[in-house]
Amino acid sequence: MVVNRLLVIIFVVGFSCTFSAVVDSNSNKFSKLTSRTWDEAIGMAKSFVAQLTLEEKCNMTSGMGGPCAGNVVPIPRLNFNGMCFQDSPSGVGDGVLHSTAFAAGIHIAATWDRDLFYKRGVAIGKEFQGKGVHFALGPMMNIDRNARHGRNWEGFGADPYLSGENAFYYVQGVQDQGVVATAKHYICNEQETNRFYDTPSNSKGYSANLDDKTIHEIYLWPFASSVAAGVGSVMCSYNQVNGTQACQNDRTLNVLLKQELEFPGNVMSDWGATKTGVESVLGGLDIDMPGGDGFMGIALVQAVKSGTVTEARIDDMIIRVLAPYYLLEQDQGYPSLDLDRDAIGDNYNVNREIGTAGMVLLKNAHNALPFNVMTDKYFFVYGTAAGQSDEGFEAGGSEQHAGALYQGGGSGFVEPTYGIDPLTALLINGRDSHLQIRYITNQNDYQAINDSFNARGFGSAKCLVFISAWSSEGSDRRDLHALNNGDKLVQTVASRCANTVVIVNSVSQLNLEAWIDHPNVVGVIWSGMPGSEYGHAIVDVLFGNYNPGGKLVFTLAKNDSDYGTDISESYNSNYTEGVFLDYRHFDEHNIVPRYFFGYGLSYTTFAFSSLDISKARKGPHTISSQYRQHRMRPYANIGTSSIYEPAYEISFIITNTGKMSGSEVPQLYLTFPAEAQEPPKLLRGFERVYLVSGESKQVSFVLTQKDISYWNVVNQKWTIASGTYIVWISTSANNLDIKMQSSFHI
Ligand SMILES: *[C@@H]1O[C@H](CO)[C@@H](O)[C@H](O)[C@H]1NC(C)=O
Ligand SMILES: *[C@@H]1O[C@H](CO)[C@@H](O)[C@H](O)[C@H]1NC(C)=O
Ligand SMILES: *[C@@H]1O[C@H](CO)[C@@H](O)[C@H](O)[C@H]1NC(C)=O
Ligand SMILES: *[C@@H]1O[C@H](CO)[C@@H](O)[C@H](O)[C@H]1NC(C)=O
Ligand SMILES: *[C@@H]1O[C@H](CO)[C@@H](O)[C@H](O)[C@H]1NC(C)=O
Repeated sequence: MVVNRLLVIIFVVGFSCTFSAVVDSNSNKFSKLTSRTWDEAIGMAKSFVAQLTLEEKCNMTSGMGGPCAGNVVPIPRLNFNGMCFQDSPSGVGDGVLHSTAFAAGIHIAATWDRDLFYKRGVAIGKEFQGKGVHFALGPMMNIDRNARHGRNWEGFGADPYLSGENAFYYVQGVQDQGVVATAKHYICNEQETNRFYDTPSNSKGYSANLDDKTIHEIYLWPFASSVAAGVGSVMCSYNQVNGTQACQNDRTLNVLLKQELEFPGNVMSDWGATKTGVESVLGGLDIDMPGGDGFMGIALVQAVKSGTVTEARIDDMIIRVLAPYYLLEQDQGYPSLDLDRDAIGDNYNVNREIGTAGMVLLKNAHNALPFNVMTDKYFFVYGTAAGQSDEGFEAGGSEQHAGALYQGGGSGFVEPTYGIDPLTALLINGRDSHLQIRYITNQNDYQAINDSFNARGFGSAKCLVFISAWSSEGSDRRDLHALNNGDKLVQTVASRCANTVVIVNSVSQLNLEAWIDHPNVVGVIWSGMPGSEYGHAIVDVLFGNYNPGGKLVFTLAKNDSDYGTDISESYNSNYTEGVFLDYRHFDEHNIVPRYFFGYGLSYTTFAFSSLDISKARKGPHTISSQYRQHRMRPYANIGTSSIYEPAYEISFIITNTGKMSGSEVPQLYLTFPAEAQEPPKLLRGFERVYLVSGESKQVSFVLTQKDISYWNVVNQKWTIASGTYIVWISTSANNLDIKMQSSFHI
């Protein structure tokens, strides 16, 4: 069977039987569930453009100087005050005051909780809206293809389906607040090395070279999800694709994004990613940011007069720039611009919830965790990453290399109004529970560390070793090891402390091999990039106030070379692995990693039963109809194409068989018929399910037409393969974690 109408989008969503787990609209006071439709917005933008002179129109195709990272020229005679574009994906950035440093993209993804994806988007959107920012420069959805990529922390990990679901709910959360979301960086921006090179003025970026199946099934997927959600803007990237700059790439911008995905919004350049004028306009770029480079803007008047660019294309550009503004009703009483305005509200609550939910319990030998404050009284804390950075937060900056890390660096960094480090939160907990806590945060002071092993109380102590890894936009990591000889710190403490627990505060993949099998390392918690409530979050997990349930969003290899992909030091990055990335690669080649994608432990246990597969049911109260309703917004771009339609419903029962309340993330992996030429199995569904001890819930996933299709490079369509599809319900991408299996035949 072939899906005839190609097109955009997507997804599987899981529902618990009550359905509330998908998006709990009652718990989120979103301000804007209604908006205009794209047709209405485009009509309004057309009327506006009809009143502009050619000079005014061209002028608007380029940004100008102003208070924001990007500023769109105002037209006072038409009461248009211009627009403000501002970083970042994880909160309002660029050094503004009064801003929440949210748990980063890599961390929200690790919650595997759509409700939290959405709530985070709502909270971030509220802060942009409260400051009067029109476009938020997020979400970031480049795939974690290279473990050392400096920007992995801003994105959603190594899987396109998981990234797509994150992008979808981020866009909805932010745009429900009336703020335009910007999907970035389009496309194949998976390394920083050589993102600028050549003269004059860094006129090129490295070229990502990849085939048609791979771009559709991996790198385009989350952008397609964003377009389906209704995203207003897409930011083109610094690199080239197949030898053509991403911001003047007819194939990626005009053909894939605007025709195939039917994206009605605008393409804005990343800052300085525009390398030409006319070629970019013809290649699909709509607005040059930040402007001032002379490529577009008023320079296009001459191009129109000489006939190299039509005035109709200039109109199209401005209509695309303004349509999202009208779509989300920013022309009606939008807040005035004040970047330092305090719009934080009570966002620390949701930030703490996400910070906690995204932590991943990797190792818990002999149930060493959680600690019990009645019996565990002596705590020894080690590591620079436990406490505050000596240098504080550099204003607007990216230089926070030491201390507890709340986010990574670069334009994605939000300067926190405050950051609660783990040590501070531990000390408060220690005061309340009468714990004896010693700490050494200078991790190069081995004399002091050695001396601590002779301190009173050490014999029965729990040792907490905090290590970290930082990275930033602009450069890639040198290696996958913890900062400041973190491996040596763990080894030193573990050599003497029988109850060593390591807390890994890392931007993305880290090599744990130097100490992970040490018998004294009884516990490991991946604390990720948890935002400014870090301290509270880790204490809640360590002491069992919260039962951890996050899951890895990338595989952790035993050997760095096992990933099979790495940063290219040349000007070409060849994606020769194709669709065999991360767990798909480990699966295909039978490479045993340390921990698989999707892995994470709990303090409780779960059982699975009653797997059932049926074709999508028609009618108003079915899982499929609820699925459609919950994803729809007036501003969405989910068209009439059958590609979005539910094809199968898959349900089963999950039970908490342990003594503690907790959550599990059942994951649906699909094995395709041979015709599809896919890796052994692909993620096509998940749901974070919270259960009190003894409780059971029915979980239902929807597989859409796209979920069961592969990209057919011959007929250029999403195509359903003929044959048997095997459905695996697992708790990670590791075959050993598979709980149930069944199949359907097409
Ligand atoms: C173009 O924009 C600039 C601000 O960048 C403004 O000073 C100028 O008047 C505008 N020109 C026209 C023709 O609108
Ligand atoms: C890149 O080149 C490959 C090989 O020729 C081709 O299959 C693919 O469609 C091209 N993709 C883009 C976006 O140009
Ligand atoms: C700390 O102790 C270890 C093992 O006993 C020893 O090798 C090392 O030299 C000591 N370091 C310092 C600075 O005392
Ligand atoms: C990692 O893999 C490389 C290349 O296959 C190999 O040379 C090296 O010995 C491996 N390292 C370890 C620690 O196994
Ligand atoms: C990538 O492919 C290009 C063109 O196919 C080739 O010239 C280049 O040598 C390759 N680069 C690397 C690093 O493999």
